[in-house]
Amino acid sequence: MAKLIGNSKFNTAIFISGKGSNLRNLIKFSNSKNSPIKIIFVISSNHKAKGLLFARKHKIKTKSFNFKNKEKDEKKILHYLKKNKINLICLAGFMKILSINFIKKFNKKILNIHPSLLPKYKGLNTHKRVIQNKEKKTGCTVHYVNSKLDSGKIILQKKITIRKKDTPKTLASRVLKEEHILYRKALMKLFINP
Ligand code: GRF
Repeated sequence: MAKLIGNSKFNTAIFISGKGSNLRNLIKFSNSKNSPIKIIFVISSNHKAKGLLFARKHKIKTKSFNFKNKEKDEKKILHYLKKNKINLICLAGFMKILSINFIKKFNKKILNIHPSLLPKYKGLNTHKRVIQNKEKKTGCTVHYVNSKLDSGKIILQKKITIRKKDTPKTLASRVLKEEHILYRKALMKLFINP
C-alpha cells in the first residue's frame, strides 16, 4: 500500500446515502494533524442526505446523483474524481452498488465499512438477521471494494458480544460506535502504520 510522503495526505472522496455519521467521523478525523486523508468532496446518492449539510458546514464540496442512469452518473463521477486528483474513495453508508466498470476505471483504492463480521451477513438488514439467527457475536468490517458485494479483502474487524436484550436498533447503535473507531484505525493501518 502507498505510504505518505512528507506532509502530503490522500485526496479522498466520501460516498454517502443517509444520515452520515461515518462521514462526520471521517471529517473530524481528517482535520486531525496525523490523519492520512484530506476530504476533497462528498458524493451522495440522495440529495436529502443529512450528511451533506455537515459536509457543507465544513466547506467540503458536495455533489448528488440519483443513479437512475447509473452509467451516465458513474461517468460524471469518474470525471470529477480525475479532475480533483482523488486517490482514495471511502464508502460510508453508501447504499448503491458501484459497477465493475467504475471500480476498474477508478484504478485506485476504494474502501467500505460494513456492519457485520464479514464474510458473514453481507448485504442489508444485518442486525435483524444476526439476532434472528441467535448469533453470540457481531461487529463491523472495513474492507476493500471489489466487483462482488461486501466481498473485498478485509482490512480490519471489530467484534462485539450481543446482549440478550439487544434489538436490531440497539445493536445498530452499538455497532455504529465501533464503526467510527474502526474506520479511523483502518486508515491509520493502511497509510501510517502498516
Ligand atoms: C452504517 O452502519 C454502515 O456501516 C452501513 O449503513 C450505516 C450508515 O450509517 N452501511 P451512517 O450513514 O454512516 O450514519
